[in-house]
Amino acid sequence: MKAIYLTGFMGAGKSTIGRELGKALYLPVIDTDDYIEKNKDKKVRDIFETEGETTFRTYEREALKELPTEDVIITTGGGMVTQQENREWLLSRGTIIYLHCDFDIIVERLKYDSSRPLFDHEQLSRTEKLFHDRLPLYQEAHYTINTSNKEVNDIVN
Ligand code: S3P
Repeated sequence: MKAIYLTGFMGAGKSTIGRELGKALYLPVIDTDDYIEKNKDKKVRDIFETEGETTFRTYEREALKELPTEDVIITTGGGMVTQQENREWLLSRGTIIYLHCDFDIIVERLKYDSSRPLFDHEQLSRTEKLFHDRLPLYQEAHYTINTSNKEVNDIVN
C-alpha cells in the first residue's frame, strides 16, 4: 500500500490522528519533525533559531525523500506543503489526507504551546494570514477531512 501522508496546519491534530490511524491500520507512523529532530539531534525550535527556516526547509525536503513510501503513515510538519517539490512528491508517492481544523479551535488548542516558531501568539493576525495563505496548498490533497469539533475516533474511522 502506498504511504498515507497527513497534512495540515500546526495544531490540526496530525500527530494524534496519525498515531490512532496507525493502530487501526497496523501501520508504523513516522513524524517528519521527529525524524529531523532525531537526525540532527536538535529541536525544531533550535534549528529555526540557530540555522534559520531555509535550512529547516532543506532538512524537511531531504527527510521526505529518505522516508519509506510504502506501508507507512507519515505525519508532516505544517509547512511541508509550502515547497512545490514536496507537494509533487507527496501527490505522486502516496495518498494525501489534509486534516482541516478551524483557526479559532487551533488557537485555543495551542494556547500554551511555545514549541512552534511560526505560530505567533502575540500577533495572531500574522498566524491567521499564514493559515489562509496555505489553505490552497493543503487543498491539493487527495482527501480533506474537517476535524473541527470531531472526536478522534470519528476522524480515524
Ligand atoms: C511548521 C510546523 C511545525 C514544524 C515547524 C514549522 C510550519 O510542525 O514543522 O515548526 O511551518 O507550519 P507541526 O505542524 O507538527 O506543528
